Amino acid sequence: MTEVLPSKVLVTGALGQIGTELVAALRELHGNDAVIASDIREIDDHPVITNGPFTVADVLDKDALEEIVIDNSISTIYHLAALLSATGEKNPELCERVNVGGLSNVLELARVHNLRLFSPSSIAVYGPDCPKHAPQITPLNPTTVYGKTKVAGEVMARYYWEAHGVDVRGLRYPGLVSWKAPAGGGTTDYAVDIFHHAIKDGNYDCFVRQDTRLPMMYMDDAIRATLELMATPVESLTDARAGYNIAGCSFTAEELADAIKSRVDNFECTFTPDIRQEYADSWPDSVDDSEAKNDWAWEAQYGLENLVDEMLANLIHKYEVEA
Ligand SMILES: NC(=O)c1ccc[n+]([C@@H]2O[C@H](COP(=O)([O-])OP(=O)(O)OC[C@H]3O[C@@H](n4cnc5c(N)ncnc54)[C@H](O)[C@@H]3O)[C@@H](O)[C@H]2O)c1
Repeated sequence: MTEVLPSKVLVTGALGQIGTELVAALRELHGNDAVIASDIREIDDHPVITNGPFTVADVLDKDALEEIVIDNSISTIYHLAALLSATGEKNPELCERVNVGGLSNVLELARVHNLRLFSPSSIAVYGPDCPKHAPQITPLNPTTVYGKTKVAGEVMARYYWEAHGVDVRGLRYPGLVSWKAPAGGGTTDYAVDIFHHAIKDGNYDCFVRQDTRLPMMYMDDAIRATLELMATPVESLTDARAGYNIAGCSFTAEELADAIKSRVDNFECTFTPDIRQEYADSWPDSVDDSEAKNDWAWEAQYGLENLVDEMLANLIHKYEVEA
């Protein structure tokens, strides 16, 4: 008789900005051994995820992923492996291969092995024709290859739900601000980097203009949103299930710099826009998240002021410990 193992969770792209914190939260919830972290990178170059199982896995290798799913009785995948906007624009072919091809592999595994799946989308699904306060439903005409892969991902996810009953869910994450792991090559990385430079150097040269306003969110809110969405009964979810808008807070680069200046003596911020300004300009200022509020009672807890307080307190402590 074969032993029936308790079901487990697999996280792809686990060594990234979100995975670092989501793995910790999932291990808190399910137990360390029940959450298998995976990434294309080796764990040795990562300081945090060492309290549970880790395996190297490329999401483009479907057979290897399937082996992990079967060997570990995986029941849910949190699929975080992706190339972000700035990295993706430098290598559009790889961005499409990883973001669309990787998701296609994971969706097929979910269909065949009856898995639940979390697949994040992004505010990058929107393009310049979108109203500045982005509705849940509006034409999606992104100008970045990254945005196009995220629109394709939402369409694929909806198809697998409608045609095959795969319980796949997603959030359109705003730019995420966190201190435990570095930001992973996106356009909103300045909202993370600015804190490190403020503490270490006392100055920062920001790569977008001061009046650039984007939807942002503190990581704690993003992790809570992810867990809340996955815990919602399936019948409460609507057509937005593949990419619910969730709003955290919306601020300009200058408002962020000013909030840091008011707490860090002599901090100076300059603004030298590069190519990432174009990507930022193509995205909305804020998002309407009324569907997430209605369907699963979503509510952000962090605005600009408490986000800045938390970032500075945690990073100052981290640098002190490391010194
Ligand atoms: N961080 C944000 O601000 C943000 C905003 C919107 C959406 N998202 C989405 O959330 C998800 C996770 O983002 P993140 O910020 O943690 O990204 P990240 O770049 O920090 O991490 C992605 C991880 O994927 C891994 N990876 C890359 N190619 C891989 C492959 N072929 N196989 C396995 N792993 C691979 C990388 O090594 C990396 O550790 C992505 O889908 C991203 O589009 C993130």
